[in-house]
Formats: sequence, C-alpha cells, structure tokens
Amino acid sequence: MTKKWVVGAAWPYVNSVPHLGNLIGSVLSADVFVRYLRLRGDDVVFVSGSDEHGTPIEVEALKRGVDPKTMTDQVHEYVSNLFDKWGISFDNYTRTESPIHKEFVRDLLMKVYENGYIFEQEDIVPYCPKDGIFLPDRFIEGTCPYCKYPRARGDQCDNCGRLLHPTELIEPRCVLCNSPPVFKKTKHWFLDLPKLQDKILDWVKSNPNLPDNVRNFTLSWIGEGLKPRSLTRDNKWGIPAPFPGAEGKTIYVWFDALLGYISATKEYFERKGEKDKWIEYWKNPETRVVFFIGKDNIPFHSVIFPALEIASGEGYVLPWSIAATEYLLFEGEKFSKSRGIGIWIDEAIEIMPVDYWRFALIRLRPEQRDANFSWREFYRIINKELCDDVGNLVHRILSFIYKRFNGIVPEPGELKEPDEKMIEKIKSTVDEVDKEYERFRLRLALERVLELAWSGNQYINVKAPWEKIKTDKKDAETTMWIGANLVYALTVLLAPIIPNKAEELWNMLNINESLWKPGRIHEIKKMPIEPGHRIIEPKPLFPKLPSDFLQKIEEIVKEVRIRVNEKRPKVLR
Ligand code: MF3
Ligand code: ZN
Repeated sequence: MTKKWVVGAAWPYVNSVPHLGNLIGSVLSADVFVRYLRLRGDDVVFVSGSDEHGTPIEVEALKRGVDPKTMTDQVHEYVSNLFDKWGISFDNYTRTESPIHKEFVRDLLMKVYENGYIFEQEDIVPYCPKDGIFLPDRFIEGTCPYCKYPRARGDQCDNCGRLLHPTELIEPRCVLCNSPPVFKKTKHWFLDLPKLQDKILDWVKSNPNLPDNVRNFTLSWIGEGLKPRSLTRDNKWGIPAPFPGAEGKTIYVWFDALLGYISATKEYFERKGEKDKWIEYWKNPETRVVFFIGKDNIPFHSVIFPALEIASGEGYVLPWSIAATEYLLFEGEKFSKSRGIGIWIDEAIEIMPVDYWRFALIRLRPEQRDANFSWREFYRIINKELCDDVGNLVHRILSFIYKRFNGIVPEPGELKEPDEKMIEKIKSTVDEVDKEYERFRLRLALERVLELAWSGNQYINVKAPWEKIKTDKKDAETTMWIGANLVYALTVLLAPIIPNKAEELWNMLNINESLWKPGRIHEIKKMPIEPGHRIIEPKPLFPKLPSDFLQKIEEIVKEVRIRVNEKRPKVLR
C-alpha cells in the first residue's frame, strides 16, 4: 500500500532572506526527502509558508519605519520566488496572513478553549517606559539563567534552546533602545501544558521514529515539569485572539504558525477543488506527518504542536517524526546578518548553479553534530566528488557508448565476477539509500550514492573497455551495458539532490518517460536499459570550479553582495 505523508518545512520568518544554514535546516532537506518519496511512489503533500507574525517581524519593521504587512508582502513574494529558483517542489507554499489559515487558527484555539485547556491569568510582562510598548519575546534580551548566554530572548534562549519567561532573564533590556524594562501586570490566556503533560509524554515514549536529539531534548524538558505557556500578546500585529474577553490581544506567533502545517494542507486541497481531502491526511492514523526543522525549533514541534492537536480533541494525527538538524557554521562562525558572516540564498545562486549548492549542502548536512561550511571543503566536494567522481564517470560511459557503439547500448555477453559484483552493488545501493532516507539521514543517503560512483569508477578502470574493445569486444560490450544502467541508477538516486542536472542526464539517456514517474526508484534494480536502446550525444554537465577559485572567492562574494542587495525588496536593503 502506498504510504501517505504530510511533510512540513519550518516556516521562515520574513524579516530577512534565509541563509544557507536556514535552508539546509528546513526547506532544502524537506525538498530532497519529498522528491525521494515521490520517486519511491509514496503519496506526499509538501507544505510550508512565510511565518509573518510575531516579534521578529515587528521589531524589524519598527526599526525600518514600515508597517509589518508592507514588509511581509514584499519579502514573502521575494522569498517564494527564490525557493522556486532553488527547485523547492512545494505543493503549497503559503503564508500565515492567508485567510484560511487565520480562520483555522481561531477555530482550533476556540476548541482548545472549550475543552478546558486554556485559562486566563495575570502575567507579569516587561514594558519599556521609553518606547511606551510592551516587550514580549524578541523585544527583550538578557542573559539566559540556565546557560548564561548573554543574548537570550524573552521567549527562548538561542544557545541552549530552553523556552524562557521574560522575568527569568538576567539584566533584561529593550532591543529597541537598550534601556531596562519595568514589569507590569496584564491579563493573558495560557495553554495548560501541565494538564497535557502525561499525554505528550506517552506519545514521545511510544514513538520509535523520533531521532535521538529530539527525543532527548523533549524528555529532559518534560522531566523538568511543563509550565503553562501564555498564548496571547498585547501586540497589534498578529491573529486576533478568539477568546471571550480577549479583545485587543493577538495570538503568540508560535501557536499560530505551527497550525499552518494543517491549514496549508487544507488550503492546498481547497484550491484544487477537493475541499475535504485534507482530512484524509490529518485525521488518518496511517499518515506520516514529518517536520524538517533546525534544532532551536524542537520544543515547539515536539511539545507545543502535539499539545494543541491533543487539546483540540479533533483527532489529528501526531507527528510521525521530526527531523531536526544541528547548526551549520560558516567558516567556523555563526551566520550573522549584522556582521555579514555567511551566504544568503539569493547571493548563493548568483555565485554557483543551484545543484552545486544543493549537492554540497546535503553533503555537509549537520545531522549528528554541528557542521562547518568552508570554501575549501566546498571546492573539494564540487571538484572531486561531484565533477570527477560522478560527472566524469557518467561522461566517460556515455561518450564511450556514443562514439564506439554509435550511441546504441550493446548486448552483454557472459557476466564475469566484476560484472556480477557491479550489478549487485547497484541493487544493494537502492536498499541502503532507502534505509538512510527512512531515518532522515540525507547526508548518509548521499554518501551511499557516492560509494556507488566510487565502485563504478573502479569497475570501469578494472574492466578497461577502451583496451578490451580491441582484444575482447564482447567484454567491452558487457561493461557498457552495465555502465549504461549504472548511469541510470546514479541519475535517479541523485535526482532528489540535484534535480536539474539529473534531468539533463536523463535527457541524454534518452528515455521516453518522465524521470519523476512515481515508483521510478524501484526500476533501478531491474537494470532497465536494454541492449539496442539509443542514447543521444552526451555533453559534459559538470564543469569544474576554476583552480584559482579559493583565491578569488572573497572578491566574487563582495561583488555579488552589492549586486544582490540592489535587487532585494526595499524593506530589506
Ligand atoms: N519561523 C520560525 C523560525 O524561523 C519557524 C516556525 S515553524 C512553524 O524559527 F511551524 F511554526 F511555522
Ligand atoms: Zn540558555
């Protein structure tokens, strides 16, 4: 039976353009996974969107003197476009200002309220006397009481990931004017997490698919005892709180954005004219709901989201797994907008073809520990692994067939040991890659594919068809039939990672069907390219980076940065 999935990528805040670290944490990883599932023949809905509300946006808009909606309109448009260019194959990339989303959030939270999981209480909230505003969440910074990180925010510490209450911050200050806040009493509405704690714990304990980093973080947080979490704010920008007596308050951004995974599925099917179809996904215990996120998002996806689902009493399926990456560093440092450290996704595509980036980022994906992006490593990955080990191998094979056999895949003779082994390697790679995807180890899945390419190179070298063609033509023919099928395997297995290059390879293979046919993955094992099949003239597809790349790259980045900045929406310049 085909498996059903909803795959969600963490919704980017639209206060800036995502950088490479943001991309590998959510959207790009999810895309590679989804493309793989589709090639396997599974039934997938892939959703995400712009996370528009909340203090990150408001702070940025205030600093720039524009209203938040003007900013999010422009940035949403710009970022959606960039994701297209990156080849991200969303089924629905929407936004939290979408009317369907806003209505869905208000309805669902009302159900949670009616079920008795939301209560009203006085809260103590920081207020800046100088700016005359409340300072929720990112409007306030201070030192983390747990890990002593000096720039923890009012709702969470970026360093240790803990959720915080603003009164816990040591030496708090207003991010707009730097002055210390005063604390005022105001009424807020709270989600009763203590009441939901046992059910969440049951789910975590009984779910075998959660990776260790997610499970450990979640268990240790629950172990400390969950506290009620306020879900309203005094901000104007956001979804109006639906609770009786809560006029003038808005919903805390996380309790709004997380529900986007469901509302975006709903919206997707409504637009397709299949109004109730989203229910077949979200209320179906067989559906695998999976999120791709950076590790700082873990508590929200592993506790708050399931808590809302459970408290709604609507029978929504709980997450099947949560794939959380560690951090990607840039040349050993944290990405930093203010210090210009890192590469942003609009800059990247002006420097290099998208598939080169996709390949390198998956190769470096921070799965078990933080990973470091360096230009030196990037250069090696592209020139050695992508261009030599993969690109050169497929080109050697295809041009041999084209030149020596007039482009016709030859008939194999008797299989010898290296031939049998090569065929076995192709087949076992399909299974191994599948296992890695099943546990969200995309980096390892790519490594398995590279190992196939390495075996392929060895195979061709050992079989030396360019010599054999003179002394034992049949043997060269066998090698090239296997070689053609090896190219097929590499093309399909690499397609989720380098979709554009894979399509170009596919065209050279001249197969009269879409590469993306559901179930394509399973055909690899059948050695589907038959003798007599005609390929077209191959062209080299993977030009190398120039040998002075490392000397020149800083200059290139500088120049690109100036050019790209001019094309960004005004509110981001
Ligand atoms: N915007 C958040 C961030 O960048 C992620 C939100 S994920 C969502 O950290 F599911 F809540 F939308
Ligand atoms: Zn901390």
